[in-house]
Amino acid sequence: MTAPMQGKVVLVTGGTSGIGQETAIGLAKLGAQIIITGRNRERGEIAAKEIQAASGNPQVHLMIADMTSQASIRQLADEVYACYSRLDVLVNNVGMVVPTRQLTVDGVELNFAVNHLSAWLLTTLLQPLLEDSAPARVINVTGGIVGKVDLENLQAEKSNYVGFMAYSHSKSILMAASYEMAQRLSGKGISVNVAYPGGVNTTNMGRQPSTLPIWMRPLMSVVRRTLNTTAEKAARSSIYLASSPEVEGVTGQYFNTNSKLAKWNPTVFDDHIRETVWALSEALTQLEQQTAAA
Ligand SMILES: NC(=O)c1ccc[n+]([C@@H]2O[C@H](COP(=O)([O-])OP(=O)(O)OC[C@H]3O[C@@H](n4cnc5c(N)ncnc54)[C@H](OP(=O)(O)O)[C@@H]3O)[C@@H](O)[C@H]2O)c1
Repeated sequence: MTAPMQGKVVLVTGGTSGIGQETAIGLAKLGAQIIITGRNRERGEIAAKEIQAASGNPQVHLMIADMTSQASIRQLADEVYACYSRLDVLVNNVGMVVPTRQLTVDGVELNFAVNHLSAWLLTTLLQPLLEDSAPARVINVTGGIVGKVDLENLQAEKSNYVGFMAYSHSKSILMAASYEMAQRLSGKGISVNVAYPGGVNTTNMGRQPSTLPIWMRPLMSVVRRTLNTTAEKAARSSIYLASSPEVEGVTGQYFNTNSKLAKWNPTVFDDHIRETVWALSEALTQLEQQTAAA
């Protein structure tokens, strides 16, 4: 019997550990050609071998990319175009929580840059390849506490910076942008959905208590001890959205950790918020300028 994802090319960002690595294993088991990204070649090669061993699928390709750098994201997109003539699924899984407010080499606040802008830029750069491979799927991985997007604080400009809050806000921004992208790409054969993996205490994420407000630290240490979702279970919503025939053509939706449809925060239905986030993403990546110059 043919494996269901045989012949499909899948890119999982941050596939070198945690939920991303389990996503890569699950999709490799279904027969897909997998590309994973990470920042460190040695660590990434070990991860690629682990994915091959766990899935029995030798088609695992490591690409190096640092999502804090737009030049590195552009290089990654160039490498994908150079190596592959199709891309069926893009899982924007990379995420990080930043303890203190910092700017990237491009001068962008770090949570915003990695959790939202890197996914937005990579998807935009790879859009022609995804379109050529239609029907194609984009899955953006979100966080647990998502709420209203504050247009006055998109890059954590307000003085009361707390890492976990800035992380959660950047995931809310990603969700608004995902909903907008789904509308813009509808009719182009590319679906865009959001997956919530659920809380996992065995991955590298959230290990630094300094990313939490002081009042939340004792509570969170209890919550972390009681979390029993494994990275393997947390990967299921991304794997489902990447591979299931049930969601073929489904777009602009938000799925929870059980791969069930969840309710969007109403912030995503606010046109002004979505348009402002979109315009800022274009301006910060100078994509508009590039298009105009082309
Ligand atoms: N863990 C949870 O409880 C939880 C809950 C809700 C949502 N999520 C979301 O699930 C996703 C995966 O989380 P996880 O817990 O599996 O995290 P993780 O174990 O820390 O893995 C993160 C992955 O992203 C890569 N990465 C991190 N920062 C990067 C950067 N600046 N540039 C390029 N790659 C980078 C890491 O690769 P290298 O280190 O090899 O470079 C690694 O492969 C994230 O989007 C996270 O927000 C997690």
